[in-house]
Amino acid sequence: MYVTLQIKRRNMTNLLVLYLITLTFSSVCLGSKNIVLFSDNENKLQVEHGKITTENSLNLNFYEDCIDKDLSVCTPKPKGNENYLRFFSQSEKQECQNFEQVAQSMNDVLQFCVDLGNSSWYGGTETTYQYWPLNKLDMTDKPFVTRNVDSQAVVESYFFNSNGYYIHIDESVPLFLDINGPRPGKMCFTAKVVAPYRKVRNAMLYRICKYKNARVAHERAIKDFLGMPSSIPDPYVIKYPIWSTWARYKVDIDTSIVRKFAQEIIDQGFPIGTLEIDDNWETCYGSAEFNTTRFENISGLVDELKLKGFKTSLWTHPFINLECPTHEMAKNKGYFVKSTSGSVNTTWWNGEASYIDFTNPEAATWWSNTLHSLLAKSGIDTLKFDAGEATWSPQLPEYHDNDLTYYPENIVNAYLRTIATFGNGVEYRPSRRSQEFGRLIRMIDRESRWDYQLGLPTLITSLIQMNMVGYSFVLPDMIGGDGNFDLPPSKEMYIRWLQANLFMPVVQFSYTPWDFDQQTVNICSPLFKIYQSKDTKYFSKFTI
Ligand SMILES: *[C@@H]1O[C@H](CO)[C@@H](O)[C@H](O)[C@H]1NC(C)=O
Ligand SMILES: *[C@@H]1O[C@H](CO)[C@@H](O)[C@H](O)[C@H]1NC(C)=O
Ligand SMILES: *[C@@H]1O[C@H](CO)[C@@H](O)[C@H](O)[C@H]1NC(C)=O
Repeated sequence: MYVTLQIKRRNMTNLLVLYLITLTFSSVCLGSKNIVLFSDNENKLQVEHGKITTENSLNLNFYEDCIDKDLSVCTPKPKGNENYLRFFSQSEKQECQNFEQVAQSMNDVLQFCVDLGNSSWYGGTETTYQYWPLNKLDMTDKPFVTRNVDSQAVVESYFFNSNGYYIHIDESVPLFLDINGPRPGKMCFTAKVVAPYRKVRNAMLYRICKYKNARVAHERAIKDFLGMPSSIPDPYVIKYPIWSTWARYKVDIDTSIVRKFAQEIIDQGFPIGTLEIDDNWETCYGSAEFNTTRFENISGLVDELKLKGFKTSLWTHPFINLECPTHEMAKNKGYFVKSTSGSVNTTWWNGEASYIDFTNPEAATWWSNTLHSLLAKSGIDTLKFDAGEATWSPQLPEYHDNDLTYYPENIVNAYLRTIATFGNGVEYRPSRRSQEFGRLIRMIDRESRWDYQLGLPTLITSLIQMNMVGYSFVLPDMIGGDGNFDLPPSKEMYIRWLQANLFMPVVQFSYTPWDFDQQTVNICSPLFKIYQSKDTKYFSKFTI
């Protein structure tokens, strides 16, 4: 799933040439802090791509040798290791340059920065305060991996700006990011081998390209490495709403509640769709068995919902809690991620648990077979997969797949390969370089707020952020947010939320219009008809 920057293989003659180029650029680099890229090619680029003014140049700053001696932002290297920059090469494309810096010791820190300048910057990660564009963010030393902290579920080390530059940091780099951090006005990329990374070397590999404008740059990035979905999600899920039990009922669900919810939707004349049984249906988290006190006859309930015209979906997750009877067996078989100190215990929002090691094919098969047989027995159509970010593992993890090249994100890709066996109706939330997956990717839970703390405005900024790094099929969270901490949305917030959501790929309800008043129903009902008139064929335009 990863695309690695290919430093072209060279014959002996080229090696000599490269050696000379390296020396030239190294001395330029070490002699001055700032490098203006592509100035040599300016005339040629102007012919090819139209007018490019010098103010649009990208200023690169290299700090790998701590020239500025600012110890708060850079670890000084030991004396004598002057030449970190090993390659500074012209790539096979005249619009691009490939860079490779290899640290001489694992303790060395490599860093380069770009001036944000007057360009707008896009790309990067999903985050809690999703301001737009990246210039408005403020972050220091952010580990560039999928993680539960800071809502960082979708992560791409790809950035582009309004002047047509893109930067792609290879996924193998142990990357940390600053935006307006200790160096205001700059975006800084740091490579260092500290938690959450384990690596066998420290290297900074990246490519910088310059095209006519942002659109051309982004289209080239898609073509050259980001890729596109190879298929589309189930058109049913796009066309008809998802009705989730989560925000409205939280963990207090059972047969009669699900039955009542379905009947209310029908009675209010809203479109039926997928009825999603969210958190709390299992005997214990990870047993993959219905608690028969709450759901005495799940296949009977599913049949009933189907007769009413609903499809059904079930929330699930990649954990097995310590108290579950299957925990011991799975542990003995080595199905869990263990830490370098041998522990399989981790904590998630529903308790103490262990995390399935999807990089172990036997564990992945066992886990998915359990869920496949649950779907077969119950008649449930599809699944809502939760969590899956790398940092749920006990730290620092030692996976079954012990190749450290893309560590720790190899678990995320293994998780997505496992859930790919569940068809095109599924939804999931973490991703790194899986643009081709073509399933509904869900934004991290929104909060019922007016502000940028996962609130209403971030419905739009998160959608376009995920689009900008290559994910087209984005499932916004529930209309009105998840009403966390017993703070449900107000009537106005709910209506505004629905209005914004109507222009997005999928609509997901949990709080309903009739939770407010008849006026809310009267406003929401015709709006929903606009949504349903959309043509799902349009979605195939986003695929290869
Ligand atoms: C940004 O634009 C302003 C106004 O055009 C200009 O004075 C300034 O030098 C520019 N800054 C950079 C970093 O290009
Ligand atoms: C099942 O649900 C009931 C009712 O909420 C609860 O009392 C019980 O602890 C749950 N767990 C099991 C294993 O039955
Ligand atoms: C479950 O419900 C179905 C359909 O209503 C019924 O045919 C079946 O007998 C029920 N099973 C049990 C164990 O009650």
